[in-house]
Amino acid sequence: MFSAIFLTLLSVALAVNGALYTHPTHLTSKSYDYIICLTFSRRSAGVGGGVVAHRLSENPDIRILLIEAGPSNEGILPVQVPLLCTSLNPDTAYDWNYTTTPQTGLNGTVLDYPRGRLLGGSSSINYMLWTRGSRDDYDRLARVSGDAGWAWDALVPFMKSVETLAPAVDGHNISGEVDPSVHGTSGPLTVSMSMSVPTDRLVIGATQQLEEFPFVEDMNSGSPIGMGYGQSSIRNGTRDSSATAYIQPALARHKNLDVLLNSHVLRVLKTGSVNGVPVFRGVQFATSANATVFTLNAAREVILSAGAIATPQLLLLSGIGNSARLKETGIRAIVDLPDVGQHMQDHPLVANIFNTSSQDITTDDIQRNSTLAAEELTQWQTSRKGFMTMTIATQIGWFRVRDNSSIFARGDPSAGPTSPHYEMIISDGFAASRETFPNTGRFFTVVTALVSPASRGSVTLASTNPFDNPIVDPNFFSAPVDIAIMREAIKASRRLVSAPVFADYITGEFPLLAAAQTDAEIEAYARSYATTVLHPVGTAAMSAFNASNGVVNPDLTVKGTIGLRVVDSSIFPFIPAAHTQAPTYIIAERAASIIASHGSVPFTESFLPV
Ligand SMILES: *[C@@H]1O[C@H](CO)[C@@H](O)[C@H](O)[C@H]1NC(C)=O
Ligand SMILES: *[C@@H]1O[C@H](CO)[C@@H](O)[C@H](O)[C@H]1NC(C)=O
Ligand SMILES: *[C@@H]1O[C@H](CO)[C@@H](O)[C@H](O)[C@H]1NC(C)=O
Ligand SMILES: *[C@@H]1O[C@H](CO)[C@@H](O)[C@H](O)[C@H]1NC(C)=O
Ligand SMILES: *[C@@H]1O[C@H](CO)[C@@H](O)[C@H](O)[C@H]1NC(C)=O
Ligand SMILES: *[C@@H]1O[C@H](CO)[C@@H](O)[C@H](O)[C@H]1NC(C)=O
Ligand SMILES: *[C@@H]1O[C@H](CO)[C@@H](O)[C@H](O)[C@H]1NC(C)=O
Ligand SMILES: *[C@@H]1O[C@H](CO)[C@@H](O)[C@H](O)[C@H]1NC(C)=O
Ligand SMILES: *[C@@H]1O[C@H](CO)[C@@H](O)[C@H](O)[C@H]1NC(C)=O
Repeated sequence: MFSAIFLTLLSVALAVNGALYTHPTHLTSKSYDYIICLTFSRRSAGVGGGVVAHRLSENPDIRILLIEAGPSNEGILPVQVPLLCTSLNPDTAYDWNYTTTPQTGLNGTVLDYPRGRLLGGSSSINYMLWTRGSRDDYDRLARVSGDAGWAWDALVPFMKSVETLAPAVDGHNISGEVDPSVHGTSGPLTVSMSMSVPTDRLVIGATQQLEEFPFVEDMNSGSPIGMGYGQSSIRNGTRDSSATAYIQPALARHKNLDVLLNSHVLRVLKTGSVNGVPVFRGVQFATSANATVFTLNAAREVILSAGAIATPQLLLLSGIGNSARLKETGIRAIVDLPDVGQHMQDHPLVANIFNTSSQDITTDDIQRNSTLAAEELTQWQTSRKGFMTMTIATQIGWFRVRDNSSIFARGDPSAGPTSPHYEMIISDGFAASRETFPNTGRFFTVVTALVSPASRGSVTLASTNPFDNPIVDPNFFSAPVDIAIMREAIKASRRLVSAPVFADYITGEFPLLAAAQTDAEIEAYARSYATTVLHPVGTAAMSAFNASNGVVNPDLTVKGTIGLRVVDSSIFPFIPAAHTQAPTYIIAERAASIIASHGSVPFTESFLPV
């Protein structure tokens, strides 16, 4: 929404650190223990590789190369200024510009499916919301993987090791808005609360007036149910990403990490076999289609952190996937893993807009008034204060549907009682991408998102050319329970703003919402105007070591291979009821610990999967 105003202010100053390379021919070393492929990055991808690179670089005896397809994240104003995040996609220089297949569940709509193409991946372009998910989300992961190390209690040290909890940017007293005891105090990534806005009083007031929407002091405690203050990955009013928090500090501190930009990974290569098990330690990459193809071999491992769209694409291009389908596509099948690219899950959302009588400045004014926006930007530049330090959300709520008898006739898709069915994201202004922003008026948005969906989609190859986009089909609302939960969530958004505290503030519903009254009309409205929170997962799902399904083992090694691991959001067999960046940082912290615990001995048969 800010693109027209601000893209002219871009200054792309590439700060070249010791080990940051911008072209493959500049690499001085050809010898690496680990090669981490960020190549294509998704909303929460880029994250995994950055975390692993940072942690592994703490051991001076190993050498790491991190390969990124896009440019540096540095010196790009909309990447730094939180409120400008909406200008970073779709169809910008930092986006892969993916689209979905026509979505049957959304009246045939083709959605933009942006993905960050710069250092830090999508953590450099996302909306920064920091939510871990529920205790049941992780306990289910432990159950399906047979590895108790993925359970909530076991992961708490890794959750804390990511974070440093910081005071609010406007200095307001955050006591009662967050529980410091559940947060880290010395991790690389800063987590902070947004500045106060006038609607805080209304939303928190509603939690006191309506039993249905209780207040939750800290939604990152494992029990998120309720409405509370949003936390975000923002440091001193500035975006914090896997690039700023993990990769750049590691580059500055350690000589054993190299980062190669502008290099698109084409596939991983089989470099040998041990007892008949193929070893994949080779990586092929190029700066563009038809340019020279470079190959490097890792002494120990290739780690894919390309995200839930590109990791399956790379696996398939490398001959790892459904053998029969690979052969049809013309790719030599090496490892038969039919689940590669399957079971894709994502969170669809509907932005419910309410008209208000607001007399205060809201983000609506900033979207419309370029003078005000310029003033706010100046304030951000001089003092890191004001609206520009905000992301889109003020409060976030996580709820379970109340009347569940018919809705859950075929089972409850949530992980358990601590997991919500839907989310409410509160925005102090108009926050919708599929409706037209009016020239006048101030608005209040309750985004409802389906966070425990039952629908499953897929990522498949469109061709054998690594520069062609894969076919992305989230298959939204294909399961009847999903549209039913979304319908109930939209009704709940109406109940929230009917709290007495909103009486003088909410003056009506935006026309599209107002027209949706019956259950059938609400479902049609959802199908017509839903879009996505962009949280794809599941396309290289984790399963137990001996399971016949799944793509990666509980230690994130790719089944039936040696030397190949996946560390990104594609490994979640079930989507966490959360914005997926925090869960991805968390699994990456544990992955780094698992990898480091193998010691300094290069991999041998003793690390063969059973
Ligand atoms: C995405 O679209 C933008 C705008 O057209 C363009 O600058 C950019 O290069 C595209 N990204 C890719 C990976 O092609
Ligand atoms: C913040 O608020 C809490 C609870 O109201 C209070 O106990 C505390 O003293 C306040 N802190 C500061 C620095 O004012
Ligand atoms: C690469 O080569 C193919 C076939 O020669 C051509 O069609 C394509 O446009 C080229 N792509 C680029 C990016 O130059
Ligand atoms: C736009 O913002 C400027 C600066 O805050 C303010 O003086 C002006 O009145 C605003 N214009 C409108 C149309 O609200
Ligand atoms: C935050 O940024 C401002 C503006 O650059 C700077 O003056 C201030 O020292 C920074 N504060 C912290 C805590 O880093
Ligand atoms: C359905 O609602 C009842 C009563 O509110 C509750 O006890 C039960 O756990 C709910 N079931 C599911 C699947 O959410
Ligand atoms: C809400 O605002 C929209 C856009 O300005 C307007 O078209 C609509 O009539 C308003 N509805 C109510 C009930 O005020
Ligand atoms: C979507 O489909 C529903 C049901 O067929 C229909 O009522 C609705 O008008 C359609 N929406 C749009 C925007 O075409
Ligand atoms: C895999 O299955 C074999 C044979 O049933 C068993 O001995 C082994 O312990 C299992 N491994 C794991 C990690 O579960």
